[in-house]
Amino acid sequence: MLTGIGSWLPERVVTNDQLSQVLDTSDEWIRTRTGISQRFHAATGESTSDLAVEAGRRALKSAGDDHVDALILATTTPDYPCPATAPDIAARLGLSGIAAFDIAAVCTGFVYALSAAAGLIAAGTAERVMVIGADVYSTILNPVDRSTAVIFGDAAGAVVLRAGRPDELGALGPMVLGSDGENHRLIEIPGGGARQRSNGQPSEPDDEYFRMAGPEVFRHAIVRMSEAASRAMELARWLPGDVDRFAAHQANARILTSVLERVGLPATCQLSNVARVGNTSAASIPLLLDECAADGRLEAGQGVLLSAFGGGLTWGATTLRWPALTTVH
Ligand code: ACO
Repeated sequence: MLTGIGSWLPERVVTNDQLSQVLDTSDEWIRTRTGISQRFHAATGESTSDLAVEAGRRALKSAGDDHVDALILATTTPDYPCPATAPDIAARLGLSGIAAFDIAAVCTGFVYALSAAAGLIAAGTAERVMVIGADVYSTILNPVDRSTAVIFGDAAGAVVLRAGRPDELGALGPMVLGSDGENHRLIEIPGGGARQRSNGQPSEPDDEYFRMAGPEVFRHAIVRMSEAASRAMELARWLPGDVDRFAAHQANARILTSVLERVGLPATCQLSNVARVGNTSAASIPLLLDECAADGRLEAGQGVLLSAFGGGLTWGATTLRWPALTTVH
């Protein structure tokens, strides 16, 4: 069950107008096609672990704990290709010695990591687990690609989970996870990995950047996120009336509206911060939950439905009865 939450945004705000000065785009296009008004970018030299440590520190404080038995980081932007970033984050949180590993499921990473954490707890391997979703997409975006540069922002969000009973507030419901590797090239960084390096040729400069087939991804995101959300409700035996709040991966405001409609939920359920932070990938859901818990959009006892979609392709969803949490801001 969920016992603590925290998040962290870098200081630098990048507005649509600022992007319009360097790219062939406009505030009007970005707002109407994505619902995004601004996003945050890490400072020069600031990386995923730096954001993750700040979010993790707040989650520990919120949980009133100074120890967990395992730390899982969901990210697409690890500090290094090798080793994983989680052990360094654990050490900087004063948790040296615990199990620590990364999960790569792009924007679905947080939900995959929640499921892995629940599994560690259920198996008795760990009593308390920290899950962090953190990404600095500003480091992998192609600065001349207007179709991705306007969408993504940097952030970290973290939660602490501990063993508990299914009827307690904070208990996670059944998990739905899936993937479609036949479409793995719709979201990719083609260069820099073993596939490219095994060719013995240096990668093309553009191949080192993130790229996404926007319109196709848009369609898959709507179908997969709504199917996963509906399945998670079914497994939890929840009817639409049991869902007080819907916390979907903040990909694009138009995607969020379509998914909500397909799942059959009213607009009052929708939690959103995409206008202020953009798509923050693995950080998206925990950042949203932390902000909503802090400003009162989430209250103890509410039924919360989570759903995410990302590269891989991957998707995942679950339910959660929101606990009484102290937030740290
Ligand atoms: N400014 C102005 N025009 C633009 C911009 C921009 N920033 N980006 C694209 N355009 C243009 C295109 O070039 C195209 O012009 P054309 O018709 O002359 O060719 C036109 O706008 C329409 O382009 P589309 O790509 O069809 O625009 P669309 O409405 O689909 O919006 C977007 C593009 C925002 C990327 C959308 O497809 C989207 O949100 N996709 C999903 C992204 C997402 O949710 N990802 C989540 C998972 S990501 C992950 O896991 C990491």
